Amino acid sequence: MRNLIIYLLLVLGMGCRPLANQPNNTAAVPASSAINQVKDPEMDRFVNDLLAKMTLEEKIGQLNLLAVGFDVTGPVVSKNVDENIRQGKVGGVFNTFTPTAARKLQEFAVNNTRLKIPLLFGYDVIHGHRTIFPIPLGLSTSWDLTAIEKSARIAAEEASADGLNWVFSPMVDIARDARWGRIAEGSGEDPWFGAQVAKAMIKGYQGNDLTQNNTVLACLKHFALYGAAEAGRDYGTTDMSRQRMYNEYFLPYKAAVEAGVGSVMTSFNEVDGIPATGNKWLLTDVLRQQWGFNGLVVTDYTAINEMVAHGVGSEAEAGELALKAGTDMDMVGEVFIKHLGRSVKENKVTEAEINQACRRILEAKYKLGLFQDPYRYTNESRTAIIMQPEFLAAARDIARKSMVLLKNKNNALPLKQSGSIALIGPLANRQRDLIGNWSAAGDWKQAVSVEQGIRNVVGNKVKINYAQGANIADDEQMIKRLNAHGGNLDIDNRSSAAMIQEAVRVARSSDVIVAVVGESQGMSGEAASRSDISLPGQQLELLKALKKTGKPLVVVLMNGRPLALPWEEQNADAILETWFAGTQAGNAIADVLFGLYNPSGKLTTTFPQAVGQVPLFYNHKNTGRPFGGDLLDKYKSRYLDVTNEPLYPFGFGLSYTTFGYGKPQLSKTAIKAGESLEVTVAVKNTGNYDGEEVVQLYIQDLVGSVTRPVKELKNFRKISLKKGESQEVKFAITPDDLKFYNSALEYVLEPGDFKVFIGPNSRDVQEMRFSVQKN
Ligand code: NOJ
Repeated sequence: MRNLIIYLLLVLGMGCRPLANQPNNTAAVPASSAINQVKDPEMDRFVNDLLAKMTLEEKIGQLNLLAVGFDVTGPVVSKNVDENIRQGKVGGVFNTFTPTAARKLQEFAVNNTRLKIPLLFGYDVIHGHRTIFPIPLGLSTSWDLTAIEKSARIAAEEASADGLNWVFSPMVDIARDARWGRIAEGSGEDPWFGAQVAKAMIKGYQGNDLTQNNTVLACLKHFALYGAAEAGRDYGTTDMSRQRMYNEYFLPYKAAVEAGVGSVMTSFNEVDGIPATGNKWLLTDVLRQQWGFNGLVVTDYTAINEMVAHGVGSEAEAGELALKAGTDMDMVGEVFIKHLGRSVKENKVTEAEINQACRRILEAKYKLGLFQDPYRYTNESRTAIIMQPEFLAAARDIARKSMVLLKNKNNALPLKQSGSIALIGPLANRQRDLIGNWSAAGDWKQAVSVEQGIRNVVGNKVKINYAQGANIADDEQMIKRLNAHGGNLDIDNRSSAAMIQEAVRVARSSDVIVAVVGESQGMSGEAASRSDISLPGQQLELLKALKKTGKPLVVVLMNGRPLALPWEEQNADAILETWFAGTQAGNAIADVLFGLYNPSGKLTTTFPQAVGQVPLFYNHKNTGRPFGGDLLDKYKSRYLDVTNEPLYPFGFGLSYTTFGYGKPQLSKTAIKAGESLEVTVAVKNTGNYDGEEVVQLYIQDLVGSVTRPVKELKNFRKISLKKGESQEVKFAITPDDLKFYNSALEYVLEPGDFKVFIGPNSRDVQEMRFSVQKN
């Protein structure tokens, strides 16, 4: 309250509008889903008044976002921040957190600038802030939207208690190329599923009222098509038909806008030949006009400057293009503050265009309640909530849910809580990797290692015999590169033969081998593409040597992308995919290994047999020469040396129990366009454990004016069944599930025949047919 009075007095002192007309934000902010649509006359009045008092320079200053503080997340770092703030040349900062640091900077901005406009405080809160959850790919494999939303809610609670009001998440880029390191940061390959996750995360971050001090502005990224980089190389060129954009890649972005996301970040790549940051069709026609987005558009890190290298003109011209396209805020690049003043003088851009961008930034601040109280996110006492036991319990819970059991021959898992384990592998007692590489303010030293987790869960009932067995990588250059960016890799200088021999000795004297292998966290994420997606270094050699001992071999994987694991699939007894599971990783892994939690995760990305198959995804189009499986059949769409099949399909994941599916029933086999129908299937837990199953529904439109994918996920239900229990699962198939964008980009339902598929994954399905008749 005191702050509010001080702020208002300061503003009044400047001759601003009277107090009585200041909006009362707390009462009137609409629910998240409506944030983009609803008009707020009070806000309009407030922002109009403020804009009227601002000089052109001050307006351009608002468009400037600087990186300052504890983290470096790009190639250049902002300089002279204090001076820039003092001159009113900064609208927001990112990478500064803690209430003390944020408050200091906010006070500086409010007390040293003419109009006392508060700053936005952004940060890459990607899968948790201090309590770190599984990497986003891992969150998605839980198929638990409530838990995903909760992870974002907790992240927002912690971030907002830590001085932040803006998070650069969710990343909703569809990714189908396992070489691309940032496949780790999204929800996988499926547009419809990605859209559901996007909505859940936005709700978690923004809640229903952005002016609350525990909600934050979300930032949808990277708009658009960033996940479709050629050859899976980060920042690579993207070229795609509008058909594919509208029917596939755009879905999660559009859903996020409909869910009320308050800001959008442009992508580094070009879209249809024009860099996204300067693409008017994308940022204005599609995002604002077609979808109704009216929030703030920020560039990615120096994306305007990078338009020069893309080849669209000089830095000043890039700035003009970006502003005219609909970009509001310039992240780190300082192109807007350097050039826009002159661009106005030269009539290259208008003051009205600058007003519009400035307005959107002021509106974001208004919606966050910052004009009411610039210090609402800097209350020191709120930090007590950070990493509270309830948050850690939620992190453990979703980490367990994110794990995918890929193989379990002869019920090698769960392990007995007796006897001895050979705990082997370079990731078996690591902590650094567990929190992934976008771990924000997460402290890896607080992450629970697998070794510690096993001890926490089974105490000394089980004897652990440990050997590292291999280094995570053996390429010195790779290790150097990873360590240059916080890899913390200590390399064991023994020969790999000596390390393997030691591991084999340890394995021989134990009942079962648990080999914790995979990638280091820095091998996925931004600027971390790989051309080889098998286990790095000597880890496969290690597994081969362990296999020869004849002991049961349980492989625990940690990685940020689908890996090619043909030998592992053939030879391991069990394989558990754990991604980088966060602060509670070790406890969650131990819960699953010892059966305290029955795994229920399912893949959201296809695992290929070989890197040469990528991009490989289940919802592809048919060709005119589809491959039927006979390798002697020459003129078919296939490879000579590998089938088209994945190693593990989209939606795949096992459980310690088994589930039987009855024959699905359709309520009708013919409907009129515009009608819905129902499909019902009985699912029974036929095994020996209570468990959860993700029942999946796919659709194929058999004939279309434009060709349709062989299968598209349209719904799913995660159900929990006790041993022996069954449940009828019902899905409605609505007209929307059958629609697509035709060649004129109209969203249409074309009458004709459809297939419905129901099953535990995208491959092992039962199919039915129905037809839609013209009205
Ligand atoms: C670049 C990344 O592409 C983006 O995801 C991130 O939010 C920004 N850097 C800020 O760190």
